[in-house]
Amino acid sequence: MLKAKIAVLVSGGGTNLQALIDAQNKGILKSGEIVLVISNKQDAFALERAKKHEIPYEIVEKKKYGDQFEQKLISVLEQKQIDLIVLAGFMSILSETFTKRFANRIVNVHPSLIPSFCGKGYYGLKVHEAALSYGVKVTGATVHFVNEIPDGGEIIMQKAVSVCKKDTPKTLQARVMRQAEWKILPAAVEKVSNEIIKEKEHERV
Ligand code: GAR
Repeated sequence: MLKAKIAVLVSGGGTNLQALIDAQNKGILKSGEIVLVISNKQDAFALERAKKHEIPYEIVEKKKYGDQFEQKLISVLEQKQIDLIVLAGFMSILSETFTKRFANRIVNVHPSLIPSFCGKGYYGLKVHEAALSYGVKVTGATVHFVNEIPDGGEIIMQKAVSVCKKDTPKTLQARVMRQAEWKILPAAVEKVSNEIIKEKEHERV
């Protein structure tokens, strides 16, 4: 069966990568296959997850490639003929040239209900700190297409999560991951992969 070739881009712990791997193993993610993991951090724990599941990986660090960072990413992605790029805790903003090169082929998971607490400077725990200091009673996660505006691309899926009185940024982050991110990211990746396959089949006819 034809499957979309997926590359997952990571920078840290990789729990969202793990959710995608688990979804693939359970058959929830069936229209796409994770064929590559790329990390922009040599010491990202996400790489251990890739190794454990025998997924090929590459380390592409900005400090090594400088101005050529995105060019290197593009050449690695093209070499593997990647159909879909998933940003799963990838902490580097991609340029307009890059996002246009892969229009509607990059998705990102963000730990809030966009358009709240998103854009430049809102990443990881900072998002949950901002939600708590604002005092929202509901937050959540969003999966969206990536364009030249940070967290500004078309929304694919969202899920709301309650904020509890005693929450710290860490407890809130853990609940948002468990109740929202690890569910909607695999579901959205399956949806987009399925659409890519349908397009490819259509092109073949
Ligand atoms: C996740 O909460 C993800 O939504 C967030 O970083 C964390 C990565 O965790 N991403 C952003 O804030 C992007 N703006 P993980 O490495 O365990 O998947």
